[in-house]
Amino acid sequence: MTDWRFDEKIVTIERHIQDQQSHFPGASGQLTGLLQDIALAGKMIASRTTRAGLADIIGATGDTNVQGETVQKLDIYAHRTLFRLNDHTGRLCAMGSEEEEHLIPIPQEFEIGDYVLLFDPLDGSSNISYNVSVGTIFTIFRRVTPSGPGTLEDALQPMRRIVAAGYIVYGSSTMMVYSAGNGVDGFTLDPSVGEFLLSHPNIKLPETPRYWSSNVSYYPKWSKGVKAYSDWLMSGADDSYNMSMRYIGSMIADIHRLLLSGGIFFYPPEVGKDEGKLRLLYEVAPMGFLVRQAGGYVSTGIEPVWDIEPTGLHQRISVFMGNRDLVEKAEAMIAEIDGAAADAS
Ligand code: AHG
Ligand code: MN
Ligand code: MN
Repeated sequence: MTDWRFDEKIVTIERHIQDQQSHFPGASGQLTGLLQDIALAGKMIASRTTRAGLADIIGATGDTNVQGETVQKLDIYAHRTLFRLNDHTGRLCAMGSEEEEHLIPIPQEFEIGDYVLLFDPLDGSSNISYNVSVGTIFTIFRRVTPSGPGTLEDALQPMRRIVAAGYIVYGSSTMMVYSAGNGVDGFTLDPSVGEFLLSHPNIKLPETPRYWSSNVSYYPKWSKGVKAYSDWLMSGADDSYNMSMRYIGSMIADIHRLLLSGGIFFYPPEVGKDEGKLRLLYEVAPMGFLVRQAGGYVSTGIEPVWDIEPTGLHQRISVFMGNRDLVEKAEAMIAEIDGAAADAS
């Protein structure tokens, strides 16, 4: 049972989202409803991820489970849940999913709304077999075209145009963390009542960072500048830092820890390439939006991600995000070492 102190206000996520609407004078309520539907999708997906290891047992007699539903891979289940909850609400003009190559139109029979919803239905899904945290990431833009079905132009917007973004992490508890541009708040699902309750108000990156995080098995493939930066971290950074290293391999969980503990997360490209593995619209922009709202900084290692105009729905990008001084240190070392090498060639 949740150990809530009785002298504290208990705030449900619905109430919190509703209150956020007052920051948008003239708001129609579409965004409020959209965020509430995403929270509901999170609860539905959480109920499946907590039974992840049972899928083979339940589905063993054929491809159907006890409810007669086809046993689906969890990321496909998460994708369908998000789509089916949001296709008919009249709040969206289009959706985009990491699981779909193209922009997903709103079915003709339903009304069209003002927003575009982009999602990574299940981030870190390769970790499910190991019972490691996975999660759902979402990005919301206001459409830029005036009316009719949404177009790529509505979806390919830079991070600075995000209206709201967040994630639901299915970990030892389920949490939803989101920002509508007015700070970052975290809610923990109390499974006994099925409600997300405000547990982490106004999340800010701690000034003293605790962890740095990257897949250092790629070290041999990194540029000299990135190698030097990672050497600097590995050798204890400056004396003023006392950081340890953690890497889960689920971006959602690595960034969740970053938001609460401070530090840096980076996924740079292989030497000679511009892009890393992570997707700008489905992973870097939404998680970066939260890190920035929590007081941090998000860079490719060369320039801020904030203004980058996406060129494709599945565009990948190099990323360094976290406490500003740590990210700027990476930019400075990369500029000095890799910049000099580029000048010489
Ligand atoms: P997804 O499961 O949505 O495809 O994303 C996986 C991503 C991300 O969660 C994580 O940070 C990264 O893959 C890990 O990659 P490496 O195994 O290369 O470190
Ligand atoms: Mn992902
Ligand atoms: Mn995914």
